Amino acid sequence: MNESIRNTIQRLEEYMAERTDALAIPREAGAFMHTLVLASRATRGVEIGTSYGYSGLWIAAAMQTTGGRLITIDRERRKSEAAAANFADAGLGERVVLETGVALEVLGRLEGPFDFVFVDADKENCIAYVQAVEPKLSDGAVVLTDNTLTHAEELAGFLAWIRNHARFASAHLTIGNGMELSVRIPEGDG
Ligand SMILES: C[S@@+](CC[C@H](N)C(=O)[O-])C[C@H]1O[C@@H](n2cnc3c(N)ncnc32)[C@H](O)[C@@H]1O
Repeated sequence: MNESIRNTIQRLEEYMAERTDALAIPREAGAFMHTLVLASRATRGVEIGTSYGYSGLWIAAAMQTTGGRLITIDRERRKSEAAAANFADAGLGERVVLETGVALEVLGRLEGPFDFVFVDADKENCIAYVQAVEPKLSDGAVVLTDNTLTHAEELAGFLAWIRNHARFASAHLTIGNGMELSVRIPEGDG
């Protein structure tokens, strides 16, 4: 990761520390996602829940290396615009497409395939989000869902669903706010 991206991440951390409306993933979760995108060589990413672009910076930084692109969705225009400025500041503007709108509507009109999905918006819609992207996932695609520790009760139904899903292998990670790492498996496998 180059210095420009590191500086933007640092500046955004300082900016978010002064605000109450920026609920970003912790740094260790960002470092993990960066590593995961590199390891899986993902190039077609979707993020549900942009906010100020903190998690997106870590994903897009890896996409810079893999030659990929991240589509990131948030319903708040003000946040999408702030995130766009942060991506540009990091020199990652070309790696990111910002979609402003209600996630389920946006997901419905996006063209796949996708090989990396980060789910970090309203917790009650997690099953619906994964169901919306399911037909557009490539075999081996990674779906990472945040807040399994901080929102355990709200995510209990989702976790039961994805862990019993015939087309996902899924494991729990105690990184950051807690994350569920789910991998799309080919039909007939598992
Ligand atoms: C926890 S924040 C995302 C943090 C971000 N992933 C990060 O770590 O930097 C959740 C975001 O999801 C957005 N959001 C919540 N419900 C949404 C929906 N139904 N459609 C689109 N965006 C939504 C909120 O506006 C908020 O910015």
